[in-house]
Amino acid sequence: MRIGVLTGGGDCPGLNAVIRAVVRKGVASYGHEFVGFKDGWKGPLEGLSRPLGIAEVRGILPRGGTILGSSRTNPFKIENGVQRIKENLAAQGVDALIAIGGEDTLGVATKLHELGVNVIGVPKTIDNDLGATDYTFGFDTAVNIAMEAIDRLHTTAESHHRTLVVEVMGRHAGWIALHAGLAGGANVILLPERQFDVEQVAGYVEKRFQHQYAPIVVVAEGAQPLDGQMVLHNQELDAFGHVRLGGIGQWLAEQLEAKTGKEARTVVLGHIQRGGTPTAFDRVLATRLGLQAIDAAHEGDWGKMVAMQSTDIVRVPLADATAELKTVPLERYAEAEVFFGS
Ligand code: F6P
Repeated sequence: MRIGVLTGGGDCPGLNAVIRAVVRKGVASYGHEFVGFKDGWKGPLEGLSRPLGIAEVRGILPRGGTILGSSRTNPFKIENGVQRIKENLAAQGVDALIAIGGEDTLGVATKLHELGVNVIGVPKTIDNDLGATDYTFGFDTAVNIAMEAIDRLHTTAESHHRTLVVEVMGRHAGWIALHAGLAGGANVILLPERQFDVEQVAGYVEKRFQHQYAPIVVVAEGAQPLDGQMVLHNQELDAFGHVRLGGIGQWLAEQLEAKTGKEARTVVLGHIQRGGTPTAFDRVLATRLGLQAIDAAHEGDWGKMVAMQSTDIVRVPLADATAELKTVPLERYAEAEVFFGS
């Protein structure tokens, strides 16, 4: 078989580890050939490809980003998009696709499968918000980066007796905020899953100052105050209809400073959380998912996504992964709340 590989949506550490595992096992165990499609769905849409063999995947295991490039292109928003993909696959002699992506990329993969394209999906996102898999690779790396930032912020916040608000990514799921906040010993953690009362947050902050410690407040970019509109920098939508989140940290710091009388500053971690080398956990997870993906393709088990359930790598219908966003259950949030304000 000749198999196309693409990476779509926001990049994350571990993408190259998947590509490497797919190609290494695909060539060595099954004798398949590969084509790398560039920049997500833009690649097959516009026929943009590059060679992808053993030589091209040497040395990429620890590298962040993706050697194939990525984009948020939605072929269903482009005239004759599906037809063009089918024609380009045929023109390059490609029998099947392995699509590595999140909600949006796999949503496209699901629809293409229904329209007769042979597809296998591999879940990735730092947000960890995909259904049917316990973890996505990229998440552990992002959490570790955010945790290290929080560790560093503790010492400077304490030296200056100020509140530091740390805004983390995660879109509409609070997984990064919850895990980084718990691991970093945040004073308060605010998630999109539950609107927060800014008065209560100010109370936690004051209590922390009374204990002679400076508070670190971790806020997810999608968190919202009780009676407020979501705070957005930008109202523009991307090709999948998502708004660009961000700005809640700054708003919150201003509120906390006004309410507590103590200086409050904001740190927006942003794309630092997506960059650089993957953790060991993410390298192993990405590698195992890649190995299962090429097995699924070899067996012609199309329309499946490979997933981590407990410690096993399994296959699930692609549609299951994108049916519902996996958000933080409130019981998990309650575990973190025990530490707020103390
Ligand atoms: O989905 C991953 C993610 O990093 C989100 O956490 C964030 O909201 C979004 O992508 C940012 O996307 P972009 O890099 O396109 O601005």
